[in-house]
Amino acid sequence: HLLPVILCGGSGTRLWPLSRETYPKQFLALGGNGVSMLQDTARRLDGLSPTIAKRPPLIVCNAEHRFLAAQQLQEVGITGVSLVLEPVGRNTAPALTLAALAAPADAVLLAMPADHVVGNPARLQAAVEAAWPLAAQGAMVTFGIVPSRPETGYGYIQKAHAMAGGTAYAIESFAEKPSLELAQAYVASGNYLWNSGLFMVRADQWLKSMAQLQPAMLQACQRAMQNPSRDMDFIRPQPDHFATCPADSIDYAVMEHLPRNPALGVPACVVPLDADWSDLGAWDALWDVLPRDEAGNARTGETIAVDTRDSLLFSQNRLVATVGVSNLVVVETADAVLVADKRCTQDVKKVVEQLKAQK
Ligand code: GDD
Ligand code: MG
Repeated sequence: HLLPVILCGGSGTRLWPLSRETYPKQFLALGGNGVSMLQDTARRLDGLSPTIAKRPPLIVCNAEHRFLAAQQLQEVGITGVSLVLEPVGRNTAPALTLAALAAPADAVLLAMPADHVVGNPARLQAAVEAAWPLAAQGAMVTFGIVPSRPETGYGYIQKAHAMAGGTAYAIESFAEKPSLELAQAYVASGNYLWNSGLFMVRADQWLKSMAQLQPAMLQACQRAMQNPSRDMDFIRPQPDHFATCPADSIDYAVMEHLPRNPALGVPACVVPLDADWSDLGAWDALWDVLPRDEAGNARTGETIAVDTRDSLLFSQNRLVATVGVSNLVVVETADAVLVADKRCTQDVKKVVEQLKAQK
């Protein structure tokens, strides 16, 4: 069966000051459709072909957000969920490992980040259906997007030969968050796809990759899940053991290595995905998905834009006015104001780093 695993433990620091530790972006309704990114993610497979036996999702999130997550899922009518609660964040490789340990060995996991917008879920479902037999046979399936710019915040997948009757490609190499120079070369070559961040892999195959590539991480997760405490729908890994787990992402910890290690027996492949996908990672991405006026400005709340172009103006409490500027991001909240060049929004996380250092 297919087990959707929603990864929703990120802190979303690049969307500061809207996204906060106590209320990170995946719980906010940012896409303009009134539902949170978590709720949107949880409904994204509604309509999947009934030939694939789909279980209710498994949520992996920080323990602090358990009620927020459980309540948001209930609000959109998702029942039967389990929530694995991380006592601390250790990034996505350990998060997926906890899920794999909580699942039956032959479950096919579909790791779904909770920070995406997918305009055309039917196309995503078609890609999942194409990936299903490959993952069931033991492959690690990624979903690749044709790149439209040299984005440095994504992973890049180099395609090898076509397989499965042309519905997928083997992976030559995987490069997570390359330098701008490399990203430019990858996009120009036409051989690379962006990694969407969705992964489909059988639980036992994931654990096998971890055993070979990240044994310390796997061991810490196994100890944490040996005797997890359970209350209601919550599964709590043992905190002392999980705390010893090294932190790393699926991309760095596993995906960069898999194509170079065919002997592992977990072949990596990519299914193309064309579904109006967007990672709402930073403010420029939000500007990109929001409706904009004739001057290219996306505006929320009370704003006045004079001679202003291609900017994002976001106001929660006070009037925001701009004059004679372009490519600017202005975000006003009750206790903080962000003003940033729209081309530097990845660096907003540095503000949060400085704030933390001051604490
Ligand atoms: N449970 C849990 N625990 N979830 C986490 C943790 C954690 O410690 N850290 C991050 N997540 C969740 C985030 O909430 C998000 O939904 C997802 O995992 C991905 O994490 P990001 O931090 O947003 O990753 P990224 O955007 O920098 O990069 C990934 O996604 C890109 C596309 O969106 C990579 O897979 C890239 O290769 C990919 O291109
Ligand atoms: Mg992301």
